[in-house]
Amino acid sequence: MAVLITGGTGYIGSHTVVEMLNNDYEVIIVDNLSNSKIDVLDKIYKITGKKVKFYQYDLCDETLVDKLFNENKIDAVIHFAGLKAVGESTMKPIEYYYNNILSTLNLIKVMKKNDVKKIIFSSSATVYGKQDKFPIEEGFKLNEPTNPYGKTKLYIENILKDLYKSDSSWDITLLRYFNPIGAHESGLIGEVPNGIPNNLMPYINQVATGKREKLFVFGNDYDTVDGTGVRDYIHVCDLAYGHLCALKHLKGLNIYNLGTGNGYSVLEIVKAYERVNNVKIKYEIAPRREGDIDTCYASPKKAEDEIGFKCTRDLDEMCRSSYNFEKKNNKL
Ligand code: NAD
Ligand code: UD1
Repeated sequence: MAVLITGGTGYIGSHTVVEMLNNDYEVIIVDNLSNSKIDVLDKIYKITGKKVKFYQYDLCDETLVDKLFNENKIDAVIHFAGLKAVGESTMKPIEYYYNNILSTLNLIKVMKKNDVKKIIFSSSATVYGKQDKFPIEEGFKLNEPTNPYGKTKLYIENILKDLYKSDSSWDITLLRYFNPIGAHESGLIGEVPNGIPNNLMPYINQVATGKREKLFVFGNDYDTVDGTGVRDYIHVCDLAYGHLCALKHLKGLNIYNLGTGNGYSVLEIVKAYERVNNVKIKYEIAPRREGDIDTCYASPKKAEDEIGFKCTRDLDEMCRSSYNFEKKNNKL
C-alpha cells in the first residue's frame, strides 16, 4: 500500500514516516521544506534502512499536486503539511488561512480527480477550546479557537465533514492531537523549533542545554494541582503509532483524540525533566499567556476501543528522549 505523507519531513510527519516504513508501507513524502530540512531524509534512511521518494513541492500549487498524483499510484494520504505557530498566525492570518486551507483544498480536489478517497488529517485539541469537563471526549461541543491557526484546523475539519456528507465513499479520519513531545530513541529526528520556542518542551530543552537562561512559567494561579497549566503530553512515537492504527481502520468518517488521558502541570514537567536527565531547569513565574486555558486532557477511550490505539511511553521517556535529541542536534 502506497501512502502519501504531506509534511513528512516535519516533526510529527518524520516519526510517522518511520512508523510506516517499519510496517512495510510504501511511502512518498511531499514537503515544501518551509519548516523542515532535507537532511531528515538521510536520518529516516539511517533509522529504517529504507529510502523514500521525496517531492519538494508546495501543495498550494495545484499543478504540482496534479503532477504528484499523475506520477504515483497513491492509495491513501496522511496530511500533516501546514503552518502551526499560534503566535505567528495572529500576526499573519492571511498566510495561515491561505497555506493551510488552500493546500488541503488542492489536495482533496486532486485526490477526488484520481479517485483516491482515503485521508487522515492532523487536527488539534485546540478545536475543543475552553472546556469545563474532563477528560475531553470527541463528542464534546467544539468552541471556536481564538487564533487563526486553530481556526484553520476547525475549518478544515468542517470541509472534510462536508466532503463526506456529499460523498460517503470517502474514508476520512480526523485525529485531534493533544501535546506531542519527545523524539525518536535514536536521537536522529525530533522537533527543531524556529527561533524562540513557543511551546513548553522545546523551551525547557533550550534551558537544559544552556541556550536560554530560564523558563518563564506562564501563570501559577490557575485552578490546577499547583496553579500552573495542565496538559496531556504524548510521546511523538506513540502519536506516530496512532496514525498506523488509524490507517488500518480507515473506514467512513471518524474522529479520534490522540492523547494519553493524563494531565501534567508545567511544574510537574519541569520536575520530571530535571530528575530523569539530571539537569537543573531554572524558572521564573511570569504572567499568564493570553489565550491559555487552565486544563486540557483527553479521553483516549474511543481511539483505544475503535482503532486499538494505546500509548506505551511514559512521561520519563518523553523527557529523556527530548533531552537526548536536543543534546545531539540543536547545538548552541
Ligand atoms: P512541522 O512544521 O514540523 O511539519 C509540518 C511540515 O509541513 C513542515 O515540514 C513544512 O515544511 C510542511 N509544509 C507546510 N506548508 C506546506 C505546504 N504548503 N506544502 C508542502 N509542505 C508544507 O509541524 P508538526 O509539529 O510536525 O505538525 C504536523 C501537523 O500536525 C500540522 O498540521 C500541525 O498543525 C498539526 N499539529 C501539531 C501539533 C504540535 O504540537 N506539533 C499539535 C496539534 C496538531
Ligand atoms: C499549544 C498551542 C495549541 C496547540 C498545542 C499542541 C499555543 C497558545 N497553543 O498549546 O494551539 O494545539 O500547543 O501543540 O501555543 N508554558 C510555559 N512557558 C513556556 C511555554 C509554555 O509556562 O515558555 C505553559 C503554557 O502556559 C501551558 C503549557 O506550558 O500551560 C503548555 O504550553 P504549550 O507547549 O505552548 O502548549 P499548549 O498551550 O497546550
